[in-house]
Amino acid sequence: MATTSDQQLVAAAIAASQQAYIPYSRYAVGAALLASDGTVYTGCNVESASYSPTICAERTALVKAISEGKREFTAVAVATRDAGSPCGVCRQLLYEFSPPMRVIMADMAGNIRVTTTLKALLPHGFGPANLQVE
Ligand code: THU
Repeated sequence: MATTSDQQLVAAAIAASQQAYIPYSRYAVGAALLASDGTVYTGCNVESASYSPTICAERTALVKAISEGKREFTAVAVATRDAGSPCGVCRQLLYEFSPPMRVIMADMAGNIRVTTTLKALLPHGFGPANLQVE
């Protein structure tokens, strides 16, 4: 099986951003999430006139993957006009599944500006282990 490169993941995130439903912010976000089995799930942000139901691109990709039975991820690429960073809510939900995953932030020209890990973005994160009872 061919492995997905960071640049391919970024290209998938940029393509996904083109589907963003963003009448309010005009801030398009695309995400491409790489599952441990090599499958890539993409997502875009979807906004609401009521604002708070808005869902970020990262969580769109994640819920697509979870609903297809995937539970482990090795990387996520996020594309925005300014290579913006995943929000706190997205960090938390991604952390639920794969704290060590790599996080790649890129602009819409495909320039990778930051490569880090979810653990680094959410230090001392709260996760499933906290709710385990002995
Ligand atoms: N947004 C994302 O899709 N991902 C993030 O991590 C940050 C914010 C979206 C939500 C909203 O549609 C727009 O960007 C502006 O906040």
